[in-house]
Amino acid sequence: MQTSVPIHGNYHGYYLKRPSREDPRLALLSSIFAGKRVLDIGCNEGWVTCEIAQLWCASKVLGVDIDDSLIRGAWRRRRSVWSSQSPGDETTPVLSVHDTEERPRKRLREEPGRSVLNYFPASLEHTFGPLSIPPSQIRGRHAFPHNVSFRAADWVNNEILEDKDHYDVVIAFSISKWIHLNGGDDALMRFFHRVHSVLDTGGVFVLEPQTWDTYAKAKRMDQRLKENATNLKLRPHQFESLLCSIGFGPAQHLGTTGEGGFCRPVDIYVKL
Ligand SMILES: C[S@@+](CC[C@H](N)C(=O)[O-])C[C@H]1O[C@@H](n2cnc3c(N)ncnc32)[C@H](O)[C@@H]1O
Repeated sequence: MQTSVPIHGNYHGYYLKRPSREDPRLALLSSIFAGKRVLDIGCNEGWVTCEIAQLWCASKVLGVDIDDSLIRGAWRRRRSVWSSQSPGDETTPVLSVHDTEERPRKRLREEPGRSVLNYFPASLEHTFGPLSIPPSQIRGRHAFPHNVSFRAADWVNNEILEDKDHYDVVIAFSISKWIHLNGGDDALMRFFHRVHSVLDTGGVFVLEPQTWDTYAKAKRMDQRLKENATNLKLRPHQFESLLCSIGFGPAQHLGTTGEGGFCRPVDIYVKL
């Protein structure tokens, strides 16, 4: 679903405005990803999703977005990140899922003597095309880029195949405002309940909510959003008590990242 006005926050070129190589939000979360199954809802063009898979060593990451043109961009991003990665990483021993749980792979950039990221310049891919990806039987199903995939879906209103296997971590970075403005309080509650239902007990919900004052600008882009906004009763400062009421533990406020309009808190909630 590509709309000319980005009423779902489906901005193209989002990561040119919001720096996301070595995303500071992920740095706050560092230790939660290794060996985990992660769902990134509202993944846009997949920059953050790829980073979780490549740098933070999740065993499996799925990025979902309502805009299929952004999902096509996310697959291209996966190929580009792979194409600029150091070939040295190909020699990294591949671990089984079992190994990964007991002995998580180190974050790639921490490995001594390695310059894994941006090893090849972007001009290489532009000139010669993307590098081919070795099959998963050689590289490993849980090694980048085989551990990351994407799917176009309105995740608030539609179940997807992968949900039935559940996730250890669900990420909702800068998406709650768009769900709220498009579908009202009901959609937001449905979203929170859906997140709860697809997490295993002990699983982590990562929420970066936009503040109420930012709704004003967003709703101006579309008459329907404006009308929906007038009926909203819930406010972002109530999200914590709502989430606790549906079976999450109290929020852990990890801090605030981002510059200017992107300055937002990152909170985590553990499913009880
Ligand atoms: C402002 S962007 C945030 C991108 C990314 N999460 C980040 O913070 O780096 C919000 C994204 O959520 C997506 N989105 C909005 N509603 C959605 C829905 N119901 N299901 C899936 N994706 C949705 C939009 O298309 C957009 O790419």
